[in-house]
Amino acid sequence: MLTIWMGWTPMVYISDYNLVKTAFTAKDNALMGRVRSGFALAQIGKHQDILQTDYGSVWASLRRVSHSAVRKVAVSEKLHELVADVVDSSAQTMKRTHPLGAPFDPKCYLYHSVMAILASTAFGKRYQLDDKELAFYGESLEFMQSRTSLLAAIDRIPLLRLIPKYGNYERKVFETARDVTNSCKQQYMAHRKTHSSGVVNDFCDALIEAKEKAIESDGRDGKDSRDGGDNAEAFNDDNLSLVIKNLFAAGTDTTQYTLQWIVLLMANNTEMQIQMRDEIESVIGDRVATSDDKNSCHFVNAFIAETMRYRGVAPIAVTHRAMTDTTIDKYCIEKNTLIISNLWAIHMDPNVWPNPDVFDPKRFVTRDGSFRAKMPGFAPFGIGRRVCLGEKLALADLFLITVRLLQSTNECVFALPAGDGSALE
Ligand code: HEM
Repeated sequence: MLTIWMGWTPMVYISDYNLVKTAFTAKDNALMGRVRSGFALAQIGKHQDILQTDYGSVWASLRRVSHSAVRKVAVSEKLHELVADVVDSSAQTMKRTHPLGAPFDPKCYLYHSVMAILASTAFGKRYQLDDKELAFYGESLEFMQSRTSLLAAIDRIPLLRLIPKYGNYERKVFETARDVTNSCKQQYMAHRKTHSSGVVNDFCDALIEAKEKAIESDGRDGKDSRDGGDNAEAFNDDNLSLVIKNLFAAGTDTTQYTLQWIVLLMANNTEMQIQMRDEIESVIGDRVATSDDKNSCHFVNAFIAETMRYRGVAPIAVTHRAMTDTTIDKYCIEKNTLIISNLWAIHMDPNVWPNPDVFDPKRFVTRDGSFRAKMPGFAPFGIGRRVCLGEKLALADLFLITVRLLQSTNECVFALPAGDGSALE
């Protein structure tokens, strides 16, 4: 554990898995707050979402219904077809645009594929890769992400706002965030008008169903939000629209950067790539992969898991904030201290992972060749009560996209221009 001072705010880094677990599952939930930054304010205004809201009854209710909605869309047959359709179209464009053997950067294809899959998962429409609405979400998110450090600087030194360049950027981030929220709200309201009970085509429908079920049973089970029941006021249209925005904000970059690492590591380790191709050929063949296939493709799962350990895309997760004075181990933590779970250090701990600098998917394979999903110290989605809400969806997307990408390029091998492992040096 160590403390870094961010100006006058202490930021505590915890680099031990068990200590993070103890801290983030403590009964008093003292460390389950989020940072009240300018960026967070731009995203949610006076409403509440899951990602930026402190632990409490609103967060718990929104999280519960969203969890149920995520689970539903992650295992739906529609997702299998959607991923196959999007990846096929992306791979065809890739092959048409770049002659076999000529080096190219696949980043934009992977980014647009993930964006199209998440947008279709959220709203049910099938988006073409060059769709205007898709471009609007992509460009808005990219713009906001690229300005986070600038907003953090303004949080620390508010006088920076007086410099036109900083003030203008801040205004533009607020406007962009509001535009994305409004667009998500329009889509959500359109679904509310047309939704019929029991029909779930997408995340909006699943959220409406889960919310209605929660409100219906509220009170009947005699529970209130503190003991596992729901806070019906949490489910207003503004909060639920922000939950949909969470899906894009928290899901797009994380999933697409993980996918970029998967492709790079496949190119860097062609013998492993061929092992994956062989496994897919023998378990699935050419047909569209399903959630059940995920249980039989042990090496593909191991490769994805090792990618997330070796090059996790959320190395310091999402910052927590102490909501009250508390203690971690023998250390006193004051209210408003920022807490970082150092997932990078946890995944590189040589006491847990022998030779942590070596990319070795076999760590996740048992002696009899089965995938070991639960490895002590493996936490790419965070630890404790605020663990990633989209874990199931992210894992389903990563599996289905990787499999389809390999199926739709089965006449080629992803390789580095230099033909060696130089990309990671
Ligand atoms: C490879 C993909 C992903 C990775 C590695 C990832 C990782 C993480 C991590 C490390 C956290 C922070 C946990 C903490 O605060 O301690 C988080 C939170 C979160 N993630 Fe993900 N995530 C991924 C994809 C997604 C997707 C697809 C969604 C969409 C449903 C999503 C939604 C969320 C939300 C809503 C939170 C906030 C949870 C809360 O504050 O209670 N994530 N994620």
